[in-house]
Amino acid sequence: MTAEVTAPSLIPTLPGSTYVDEAVFRAEQERIFEQMWFCAIRSADLDKAGAWRTVQVGRESVLISRTRKGAIRAFYNICRHRGVKLCMEEQGEAARSFQCPYHAWTYDFEGKLIAAPNLTKMPDIDRDEYGLAKVHIREYLGYVWVCLAEEPPSFEEDVMGAIEERLGDVHAIDGYDVANLSLGRRIKYDVKANWKLIIENFMECYHCATIHPELTEVLPEFADGLAAQYFVGHGAEFGEDIKGFTVDGSEGLDVIPGVAEDQDRRYYAITIKPTVFVNLVPDHVIIHRMFPLAADRTIVECDWLYLPSVVESGKDVSASVELFHRVNQQDFDACERCQPAMGSRVYANGGVLVPSEHHIGAFHDWIQEKVGDTVPAH
Ligand code: FES
Ligand SMILES: [Fe+2]
Repeated sequence: MTAEVTAPSLIPTLPGSTYVDEAVFRAEQERIFEQMWFCAIRSADLDKAGAWRTVQVGRESVLISRTRKGAIRAFYNICRHRGVKLCMEEQGEAARSFQCPYHAWTYDFEGKLIAAPNLTKMPDIDRDEYGLAKVHIREYLGYVWVCLAEEPPSFEEDVMGAIEERLGDVHAIDGYDVANLSLGRRIKYDVKANWKLIIENFMECYHCATIHPELTEVLPEFADGLAAQYFVGHGAEFGEDIKGFTVDGSEGLDVIPGVAEDQDRRYYAITIKPTVFVNLVPDHVIIHRMFPLAADRTIVECDWLYLPSVVESGKDVSASVELFHRVNQQDFDACERCQPAMGSRVYANGGVLVPSEHHIGAFHDWIQEKVGDTVPAH
């Protein structure tokens, strides 16, 4: 008789200290956020030459702006003279150039040093060398992705690869034409939780039946606790009497024309490490960008994107926005309720994952690989 070998139902999570320890967060900043492709802003947020935004990437402030020729450039938001933070606000519009508020060194939209008090008396200053320090950028899905690494990792493997891994084909997202959709609503959430808790929560649906009554009404299979991201290529199907992806199952907005027949009436969720979630439904796309600010604080910006004709016509998108806004609040509340326990002695060895959460173990392995050496022993 051969004994049947069965996998254990429960596998461990990361130790609690991984979510609270400052040294771990510092290592994540250095080795993850400052090394990988990081989704910063929506390209369309820079609607004219001189429009700029600042974002926090790891420990660095990054300034992203549009040039006169319409290109997008990203720089470290630091004056090359004595290091003052060049742009203090989150967004603005420069008329002709960026002028440092300290001694008035002035840079053009390509980052070149073009003026400074007495500059002509210092002819040996190389204006390119003392221009703003550049940051690598890529535009994809209508977003500006920046990378602070000197040699960026492969965008195709890391970012597009995540889409391929989830949908089975990187081109399965093309029909949603995400880059050409328009912003219908943006909501910013200030979440008092570690960024990894937010990712783990997004990756599983074991909690859906408990905390997401509206979502499980629209996507009945979520009530079974099966993760939307578990099966390659699978999208959760709308319930039979559900007309659209809205808070009450009422009719949604105009369907994006390129959405394939087998994608219609389905919801797909994709996690792009380290900080992006993409949600696809037939009439809109929801994109979450996270900005981890501390071990216990993460800003999440969530964009609801619709066909330009829907946004321009002023159609009411509120029932559509409300569904995932509630999901966000329910999820982030749950994450905030977990965060304080991460430092508890009871959680020193972490918690456990049930079988429908086991795929989160791969995320934990990845974290271990990146920063495991900094997790304090207990
Ligand atoms: S620090 Fe910017 S001009 Fe001096
Ligand atoms: Fe959730």
